[in-house]
Amino acid sequence: MTATPTAQTTSDVVLEAKGLTKHFAVRRGLRDLLTREKSAVHAVDDVTVTLRRGRVTALVGESGSGKSTVARLLAQLYPRTAGDIRLHGESVEVKGGRPFRRYVRKVQMIFQDPFASLNPVHTVRYHLTRALKIHGNAGKGSAELEKALQTLLERVQLVPAERYIDKFPHELSGGQRQRVAIARALGANPEALLADEPVSMLDVSIRLGVLNLLRDLKDRLDLAILYITHDIASARYFADETLVMYAGRMVEGGDSETVTQRPAHPYTRLLIESAPDPDRMAAVGPDEVPQDKAGGEPPSLIKPPSGCRFHPRCVHAMPKCSTELPPRFELPDGEDHWAACWLYEITHKPAEPKQEATR
Ligand SMILES: Nc1ncnc2c1ncn2[C@@H]1O[C@H](COP(=O)(O)OP(=O)(O)O)[C@@H](O)[C@H]1O
Ligand SMILES: [Mg+2]
Repeated sequence: MTATPTAQTTSDVVLEAKGLTKHFAVRRGLRDLLTREKSAVHAVDDVTVTLRRGRVTALVGESGSGKSTVARLLAQLYPRTAGDIRLHGESVEVKGGRPFRRYVRKVQMIFQDPFASLNPVHTVRYHLTRALKIHGNAGKGSAELEKALQTLLERVQLVPAERYIDKFPHELSGGQRQRVAIARALGANPEALLADEPVSMLDVSIRLGVLNLLRDLKDRLDLAILYITHDIASARYFADETLVMYAGRMVEGGDSETVTQRPAHPYTRLLIESAPDPDRMAAVGPDEVPQDKAGGEPPSLIKPPSGCRFHPRCVHAMPKCSTELPPRFELPDGEDHWAACWLYEITHKPAEPKQEATR
């Protein structure tokens, strides 16, 4: 089950998106008709993501910040308002049919709720066989199919395979169901996995096991993984790189250790503060605890705040923050660490537009 070689095998970039934007049109109410205003939910604006072979990239933000929309755009489940998605350097925009099937063979998604994503009337065997067949990985004849099924279940550590293969979803625990959903995604033999909050509906006690499984798969199959979460502490543990989103925009990024241990953007600090991490708590004094001016409410995305979208909640907000959108400022303290925050204007230069594909 090795990846098919492409023209770009020298590059470790599997999937990248630049300027990704999604505005959802809002159904017009009577008031809109009277005012002739056209409104839209600005769910995702100008998002840049690069997924590399054998690396986990975390996309972190509170509920409603646009994380799932980014994943769905990357999975080509929605048409986008603007931006470019490249698979191995090649621009792709597919709307279904054969091109979509070709794309999902490389880019698979795992959803939050494994109960909803598995059909209750079908067994594990049915789900996995179907995935293998759709993606042309079922082999020839029943012996090869059995072997492929066994391999999938072993990959997700549901062993011995015979114990699980003929079970229905309701006969499995939440963690086992999510493992089946992961096995089904692997049935495509993908290069990238988009995991949208893959453990947030599981019991706390089994989350780590599923994250460890994903990490093991990343190493063994050289997968590029997008790990979406609202739990920034798990990003530190699990992801190589962390990107932070607020109200549809990316506000900070860098290697996970730096972003979680030395967060630069006031929003990232607020996120970390609301998800205490024992190591960091010991290191940070009470003076550094950020305060939230607006009681923790994210803004409306129909009329998002001008300038920096975080400014109404930010204790450091300056007049400029409400009028001008901050660019990314490069920070010298970590690998590719940056923050889109005017606090760093004086000390740091704006980050160059990245040449991701050539790295
Ligand atoms: N299909 C849709 N139509 C209209 N608005 C949507 C749709 N999907 C998501 N949204 C809105 O886009 C914003 C971002 O949603 P989402 O991407 O689900 O955020 P997250 O996954 O971070 O919780 C939210 O305000 C949400 O209400
Ligand atoms: Mg979501």
